[in-house]
Amino acid sequence: MSDPINPGFTPRIFSGIQPSGGLTLGNYLGALKRFAALQGQGAETVYCIVDLHAITVWQDPQMLRARIREAAAAFMASGVDPAQSILFNQSQVSAHAEMAWLFNTVARVGWMYRMTQFKDKAGKNSENASLGLLAYPALMAADILTYQATAVPVGEDQKQHLELTRDIAAKFNHDYGVGHFPITEPLIEGVATRVMSLRDGSRKMSKSDPSDASRINLTDDADTIAQKIRKARTDADPLPGAIDGLKDRPEARNLVNIYAALADETPDQVLARFEGQGFGAFKPALADIAVSALSPITAKMTEYMDDPAEIDRILGDGALRADTVATPILEKTKQIMGLLRSRP
Ligand code: AMP
Ligand code: TRP
Repeated sequence: MSDPINPGFTPRIFSGIQPSGGLTLGNYLGALKRFAALQGQGAETVYCIVDLHAITVWQDPQMLRARIREAAAAFMASGVDPAQSILFNQSQVSAHAEMAWLFNTVARVGWMYRMTQFKDKAGKNSENASLGLLAYPALMAADILTYQATAVPVGEDQKQHLELTRDIAAKFNHDYGVGHFPITEPLIEGVATRVMSLRDGSRKMSKSDPSDASRINLTDDADTIAQKIRKARTDADPLPGAIDGLKDRPEARNLVNIYAALADETPDQVLARFEGQGFGAFKPALADIAVSALSPITAKMTEYMDDPAEIDRILGDGALRADTVATPILEKTKQIMGLLRSRP
């Protein structure tokens, strides 16, 4: 089967999540839930725990290993089925790091300095950031293009990195006069592509926010979820009948969007039921739906995490399968670039 946007390429979806902390409701709604939904829809699905990305900032080795397993448990608990998808951790497939080096020679330094994620993460003292943090997007392009992936589901914050992936593919194809890499489509869809902090409607919900109250973690129990929603920052006004009425109320809009994404409804459908009511009524309803959507996931995560050997087996098996797709594409890339291949 050929991809409609990139003729000649197999429709293949790739996405990744960093194991750099506990996963949040933002990761679930913006990424994991959609990863699961994309299975069995006609494209191959390849999902990766990007541990090589995580080490661009310091990670305690013991903790990192535990978080890789926890991320794998979160993928599976969210419905990613290792029989239907390829699920693995990045460092077990060496093609990613090798392709990243090749892309380091294609991408331009200026492209890297322009990335807002680099600016945010490097902060004021960017001279002291790891070289890996700067080169991070070339590794991300490598993740995607080593599978010649045609589509990548992500949250809104990854849009700029995907544009850079397209730039790398286009420059490679142009410089070497080939059509080797597809121009990957970003899939940034739905109402939850940017779930905001519960404490500040202008910041994204993030596993690295110092305040635990700012986010819902996939490992939070029902009481904690309800309490965080109860304490979420809002305003005193009643809810309008349509989402347009929440333009200047970011905290309120965020909670309505979260409700809609959890309920598989549109924000307008949600507001049609809550029009005229205040957060005293809305928050308990949101807490109920959040708990009923997340509790089964948390429970399944705990079950998977009780058997780390099985998680390791699944990731190892996924890595072998990933390798069979990635290695021939990497080989071809090296050949195109003129790197001599003569190993028997
Ligand atoms: P990360 O945790 O940065 O590795 O992100 C993994 C995936 O989750 C990416 O597709 C992100 O775009 C998505 N994601 C992370 N935080 C959020 C958020 N607050 N809202 C929506 N999507 C998010
Ligand atoms: N940079 C992404 C993030 O922080 C994670 C990531 C790495 C990724 N490689 C990827 C996402 C490839 C999609 C495809 O969210």
